[in-house]
Amino acid sequence: MARAEFLVGACCMFLALSNAVHGIGVNWGSITSHPVSPTIVVRMLKDNGINKVKLFDADSWTVSALAGSHMDVILGIPNDQLERMADSYKNARNWVKENVTKYLYDGGVDIRYVAVGNEPFLKSYNGSHLKTTVPALQNIQKALDEAGHGDKIKATVPNNADVYESASNKPSDAVFRSDIRGIMTAMVKFLHDNKAPFMVNIYPFLSLYLNPDFPFDFAFCDDAGKPIYDKGTQYTNVFDANYDTLVWALKKAGVPDLKIIVGEVGWPTDGDKNANVKLAKRFYDGFFKKMAANKGTPLRPGHLDVYLFGLLDEDKKSIEPGLFERHWGIFQYDGQPKFAMDFTGKGQDKMPVAAKGVQYLPAQWCLLNKNIKNLSAVGAEVSYACSLSDCSSLVYGATCNNLDSYGNISYAFNMYFQMQDQDVESCNFNSMAEIVTRNISKGSCLFPVQIVSAGERLSLALGASVLTGLISLFSLL
Ligand SMILES: *[C@@H]1O[C@H](CO)[C@@H](O)[C@H](O)[C@H]1NC(C)=O
Ligand SMILES: *[C@@H]1O[C@H](CO)[C@@H](O)[C@H](O)[C@H]1NC(C)=O
Ligand SMILES: *[C@@H]1O[C@H](CO)[C@@H](O)[C@H](O)[C@H]1NC(C)=O
Ligand SMILES: *[C@@H]1O[C@H](CO)[C@@H](O)[C@H](O)[C@H]1NC(C)=O
Ligand SMILES: *[C@@H]1O[C@H](CO)[C@@H](O)[C@H](O)[C@H]1NC(C)=O
Repeated sequence: MARAEFLVGACCMFLALSNAVHGIGVNWGSITSHPVSPTIVVRMLKDNGINKVKLFDADSWTVSALAGSHMDVILGIPNDQLERMADSYKNARNWVKENVTKYLYDGGVDIRYVAVGNEPFLKSYNGSHLKTTVPALQNIQKALDEAGHGDKIKATVPNNADVYESASNKPSDAVFRSDIRGIMTAMVKFLHDNKAPFMVNIYPFLSLYLNPDFPFDFAFCDDAGKPIYDKGTQYTNVFDANYDTLVWALKKAGVPDLKIIVGEVGWPTDGDKNANVKLAKRFYDGFFKKMAANKGTPLRPGHLDVYLFGLLDEDKKSIEPGLFERHWGIFQYDGQPKFAMDFTGKGQDKMPVAAKGVQYLPAQWCLLNKNIKNLSAVGAEVSYACSLSDCSSLVYGATCNNLDSYGNISYAFNMYFQMQDQDVESCNFNSMAEIVTRNISKGSCLFPVQIVSAGERLSLALGASVLTGLISLFSLL
């Protein structure tokens, strides 16, 4: 007996040492010009002990790469599909058949949830998804149930934390937002009846970004914040306060025990004065420590179910919310880690394991030709380059903000050149640019070299197989 117990103890201690904090997952988005191959990404996740992943769609290439990985997977249905799913149960049934059932073979994909829509009630959508979200949710859950997956796979809706509010800023005054209160009440009752979780995205960074008077330390989970008190409960960070605001809103809506999943939480590393590696590290260090201690929040102590946002930087994301949008990755665009962290929360920092087998384009850059002295026409060229690539690292407070004008112009030219897969013709800019093999990256300001897009490799491979097909067809004739 004693021996068996010891063995069990040893096994679980070993697991605890080698795995990331139990429950930490990541969001794997794909709004990027040069995607890393899904097979490489899956290996990178495993190398870092990450066993849970949330997608924003059900792209078959990505989902197939997860087969046999034993990772828990959340599939997504984008907002532009909500109407289709709401309008016709048949569409929902086909979605489940094509995007869920297909992968549930032995050794297939461990699909756990379907995320219906993504923050559909954001005010910036002007109410476009108010009528369709809950009916789409209901149709998808019904289709999952009818296909026999309902016990294992639940449908839910990832909500922005702006679906609830508190006039006093105290969690206990929480209510669902007045313009959507009826819809939210219907949603949470449906989730409760189906034993499905509520999903919420919580962004301490945005609290800071959107409100210049926000108490700085309160954005981080290291207890440095000046506490706020609410009915005898003490809050030292905005994550806990925000989460418990939701707990109160659920309580008032009559579903006090509804399970909560944090669908997104994280900190960006560029594109704003508070978006940098130092503050991202501070946020994650405090957060992982909190997760490892299973502290939970004052109203929901214990384990939290959390998905970090996000895995990789995404250079095609909309910058309407802010220039930091393209820099949420814990890894760079190419799967290189940005800073040392410890997913186990034990403070034993090490660089996360980089993606293995990523192929880069040649080590060359497109820069301003130093012989060009008359720069009066360069402004238009820079605007053009930036509008079609990504210059979000040039702004105030960002990593490349200290460049001189030669550096600024060159940065813009190079980003466009790399975006265009280093096409020689894309490095012209009215004959003011030149291709060089000199790397002028300096400090944290990286002049990137793009990777060979996995999408490109796929289409090349497809092209090749079509060609082989044609050749063999000809030889048959
Ligand atoms: C399955 O998901 C993919 C990717 O999100 C989508 O394009 C496709 O339309 C879905 N299939 C059906 C039948 O709805
Ligand atoms: C919402 O309305 C504003 C102002 O009328 C408009 O600028 C914006 O494009 C609209 N957004 C969407 C998603 O329809
Ligand atoms: C600089 O170039 C502009 C047009 O690009 C031209 O109009 C201007 O005369 C040039 N200035 C000099 C000093 O050559
Ligand atoms: C470089 O560009 C940034 C952002 O566009 C600007 O703030 C900065 O003043 C520029 N520097 C020079 C020397 O032109
Ligand atoms: C360019 O230099 C930076 C460091 O300054 C380095 O991180 C990067 O890998 C270099 N790029 C290439 C292609 O060598």
